Amino acid sequence: MTTGRVPGAGAGDAGDAGAAGARGVRGAARDDIAGDEPVGRRSPVPVAVLLGGPSAEHDVSLVSGRAIAAALEAKGHAVSGWLIGLDGRWWELPATALDPRVPATAFDDPASLGACGPYAAAGAVELLASHDPAPAVFVALHGPFGEDGTVQALCEAAGLTYTGAGVAASAVGMDKSLFKRLVAGLDMPVVPWRDVSLAAFEAGRGAVLEELARFARSLDDPRLMVKPARLGSSVGMRIVRHPDDPDELADALGEAFRFDDRALAEAYLDHPRELEMAVLGNGPEDLETHGPGEAFPGREFYDYVAKYADGVSRTTTSPDVDADLRARLHAIARAAYTAIGVEGFARVDFLLAGGTLYLNEINTIPGFTPISLFPAVCAAEGRPFADVCERILVLALERERRRRRVSLTRADLP
Ligand SMILES: Nc1ncnc2c1ncn2[C@@H]1O[C@H](COP(=O)(O)OP(=O)(O)O)[C@@H](O)[C@H]1O
Ligand SMILES: [Mg+2]
Repeated sequence: MTTGRVPGAGAGDAGDAGAAGARGVRGAARDDIAGDEPVGRRSPVPVAVLLGGPSAEHDVSLVSGRAIAAALEAKGHAVSGWLIGLDGRWWELPATALDPRVPATAFDDPASLGACGPYAAAGAVELLASHDPAPAVFVALHGPFGEDGTVQALCEAAGLTYTGAGVAASAVGMDKSLFKRLVAGLDMPVVPWRDVSLAAFEAGRGAVLEELARFARSLDDPRLMVKPARLGSSVGMRIVRHPDDPDELADALGEAFRFDDRALAEAYLDHPRELEMAVLGNGPEDLETHGPGEAFPGREFYDYVAKYADGVSRTTTSPDVDADLRARLHAIARAAYTAIGVEGFARVDFLLAGGTLYLNEINTIPGFTPISLFPAVCAAEGRPFADVCERILVLALERERRRRRVSLTRADLP
């Protein structure tokens, strides 16, 4: 099956008696839903879908979030939509705003859509947590704040059940440098790279440039790819064609440092194949892997335009991949997902160049529009979009049910 362009194909505890009581009510509701019955027969749950967010992928999230909301509603769940604006303020959306025909620009003025708000983030999660039963939060945000552990930590602090990776896995998944160090340490294949901090660059610019130029000379292809450590959508990335030219290299670092105070300089791969795996599950015992899917960027690399401009790139859910490569993709996708402790779901992305396979990155909240590669590869293997959304919800409820929340009293203290 070949799909069209895929946006985004290119991721609390003890309390006082009152809070504990409220949690007890929510816990009972969750047990009812996340039992051992097949998904279709579980009771519906109230779900709050978070969409938008203060990131470059705001508009992709508006599409992902509304598609997820519609799918869960069709499965019988009571869904509310919560918009997070580019300015970070939260709004509760009326049902009419979840209509996919509402244009993205209309969300720039949430009041005109009839939304309630704005709320500061902490106030909004407290409000959600005060409902009885509290909704499960479906985090349909991409990039910084939504995918990096921040909103996950807010949900933890409020005692809310939420979908997808937890705080630590989200943070590691978002940080390309931490992720690479971790998986490289487990002998997974990653492109050679160097970390550069803004502090080191400011303290000794010449030394940093010389060290990176030396690194580039040690590679078969002396070009480098420079990228911010914690971003997505290919924002802030530059190919450095002549790393021996300090100006060109410094410009690329300067671009990455506009977005983050840490950057990576990686060995450049010339037009690699882009293979992507979908993984669902809370741990090694219940993982399922789907794919690979493949993206064909219509530009020099899969940059922002290639990812989001209509008609530039294409994707397929049936790439030309032999059995050996397929087996390696499944094994490394599982290993990477498990290594950083992802729960729920993630897309694991690979680059294949000159016959060598590299694990590139993990996206703990991948694009989830109806034509995104994650749901497309699941659908191609028998898990339609709405099933995937509900599976992610159930995985969140199951994690919550197994979770040990320790309520300490003074007698427990050492
Ligand atoms: N080392 C590299 N060599 C060549 N192309 C690369 C390299 N790293 C990334 N790319 C290209 O840039 C795209 C985006 O890079 P990636 O690391 O996945 O960041 P993002 O999180 O923004 O998607 C990749 O899909 C690929 O097309
Ligand atoms: Mg990527």
